[in-house]
Order: sequence, then structure tokens, then C-alpha cells
Amino acid sequence: MAQSYEEMDAVAMLKADHRKVEDIFEAFEKATSPAKKQALAQQACLELKVHTTIEEDIFYPACRGKIEEELLDEAYIEHDSAKMLINEIEAMSPDEDFYDAKVKVLSEAIEHHVEEEEKRAEGMFAQARAAGLDMDALADAMRTRKATAMEEFQAGKPAKTRTMEGDDVESAKATRTEEPAIAPN
Ligand SMILES: [Fe+2]
Ligand SMILES: [Fe+2]
Repeated sequence: MAQSYEEMDAVAMLKADHRKVEDIFEAFEKATSPAKKQALAQQACLELKVHTTIEEDIFYPACRGKIEEELLDEAYIEHDSAKMLINEIEAMSPDEDFYDAKVKVLSEAIEHHVEEEEKRAEGMFAQARAAGLDMDALADAMRTRKATAMEEFQAGKPAKTRTMEGDDVESAKATRTEEPAIAPN
């Protein structure tokens, strides 16, 4: 029986998000009406904004200093390039020039990024597991953040980059400081 979202550990949760977005992009490919295409593209963009937020606020900072540095740095850049396309797509209507092309290129960029995260042995998730991160605690923190992020983005907040010109890049170098499980007396 499939695991419920509430029971998943951090990696299972992030992978479930990946599968969901892949399904949406697949449906977009098959869609023919502009209204349907737009609904699907916007759904993919929303899911991706929430997903990149929980990774960047919780999972990536927990990985910082514990896994390969370049892999993590590249992941932030991949997120930011995706976010720039996401913000463009969200502001467009499907009859505009390059709409389909932007959605297609976004889906391909995400496919590559997901592979870097999920790759066996040297992928980000595999390295994080090998480093002994507490995947249950991270899952709880991500579930909590996911709920607030969903509200923020459903209210229309655009995706925010961290590593591009003018950004506070320090936020992409943060290390996660975990609160002690039991409060000190
Ligand atoms: Fe991811
Ligand atoms: Fe990611």
C-alpha cells in the first residue's frame, strides 16, 4: 500500500513532489485547449514554487556542509533559472509567442534537476542519506513549511531567486541549525 504523505520521510516526500510535477507536465503535453494548458502550466508552477521553497528553506541548508558543495551550489542555480521561467509563464497567456516553448524548456530543466537530486549513489538525496541527516525531523519541518508556502503562493506571491544579480546570496549558503528535540531546562 502506498505510504501516506504524512508518514513519508524527507526524501520520500520530495520524490513524491517530483512525480506529481512530472505528471502535470505530461498532461500539459497532451492538452490541446489553451484553457487546459494554462491551468496545467499554472499548477506545475505553483507546485514547483512550493517545492523549491521547502527545499531551500529546510532540506538544502541541512545538506550544506554535509554533501558535495558543487552539487548543492548548482541546485540553487537550477532552481533560480527555473524560477525565472516560472514567473514568466505565470504572467503569460497560452496564446502568446513562446508559451509552449517556455513550459517545455522548464519541464526539461526540471527533469535534469530531479535527476541530479535522485541519482543513485552520487545524487543529492543519496549523499544526504549517507551523511546521516534526520529524514523524519526534516520531513516534519517541510510539511509545516509546505502549508504556509502553499498559502503564500496561492495568494499570488511570485517565485524569489537567491543567487542572481541583486539577490542576497548568503541565503543560498545557509546551514540549517536544528532546534534541540527536547527544550533545555
Ligand atoms: Fe526536488
Ligand atoms: Fe531541487
